[in-house]
Amino acid sequence: MAEFFRLDGQMALVTGAGRGIGAGIARRLHAAGARVAVFDRDPDAARTIAVELDGLDLAGDVRDEAQVEAAVTAVEERLGPLSILVNNAGITGRTDRTWNLRVDEVREVLDVNTIGPFLFCKAAIPRMIARRYGRIVSIASIAGKEGNPTLMPYSASKAAVIAMTKSLAKELAGQGNDITVNAIAPAVIRTDILAGVDPATVEYMISKIPMGRTGTIDEVAALVHFLASREASFTTGQCYDISGGRATY
Ligand SMILES: NC(=O)c1ccc[n+]([C@@H]2O[C@H](COP(=O)([O-])OP(=O)(O)OC[C@H]3O[C@@H](n4cnc5c(N)ncnc54)[C@H](O)[C@@H]3O)[C@@H](O)[C@H]2O)c1
Repeated sequence: MAEFFRLDGQMALVTGAGRGIGAGIARRLHAAGARVAVFDRDPDAARTIAVELDGLDLAGDVRDEAQVEAAVTAVEERLGPLSILVNNAGITGRTDRTWNLRVDEVREVLDVNTIGPFLFCKAAIPRMIARRYGRIVSIASIAGKEGNPTLMPYSASKAAVIAMTKSLAKELAGQGNDITVNAIAPAVIRTDILAGVDPATVEYMISKIPMGRTGTIDEVAALVHFLASREASFTTGQCYDISGGRATY
């Protein structure tokens, strides 16, 4: 039987892959045949997943341009040409009303969730252009489409990721390459990230999901896998919903 969506021989870098959704994506891409680099600010977590997947562990912070550039260089030198970039690392920030937040709290969330993906795109795209191939998938959020109350910095940072995806995709399309840039917008997925969110906010988010349940890491990983595959070559600049029906546009 023919096998579809294989990634044999391809090199993937997943940020924030030390746990949660990122680890699930790394496992899925590895199972499809890719070599995987695990980038995370938690060195032990990165190492554990990298050892499990016979991949490359890269400790670093997505906010640090020098560390991001060094990570992409390390992938290219030690694994091979990077063809799949998954911008997954993210934080929610403190749950509170917008007017109660300090400016440094807002900046931190925008730095990690928006500037981080920008820096990885900046490092990876020139290399992808040189080879005329690449797949970039960024994990945004339904919060970026709808705006969750008490999660303003998070919602704004994810809206920015969706817009960055659309701008970048248009810059790369029609240039004689096969480079696509897409985002996905999950609703609530049960991971450690929820521990830092006020339970009332989590309940609010789940109550908005018509399927009446949280999503799973495997469901998210399957969508990323499709968008990272060669087959997904006529799809760019899109934000894919994975919200159990919550999205209204
Ligand atoms: N869990 C959800 O309900 C949900 C919903 C929508 C979108 N998302 C998005 O999915 C992504 C993954 O979320 P998760 O639930 O797996 O979170 P998580 O907290 O379980 O894992 C996030 C990982 O990112 C790493 N990380 C955080 N900041 C970093 C930084 N500055 N540099 C490098 N690594 C960093 C952490 O160490 C951790 O390993 C995030 O972008 C999140 O916003 C999650």
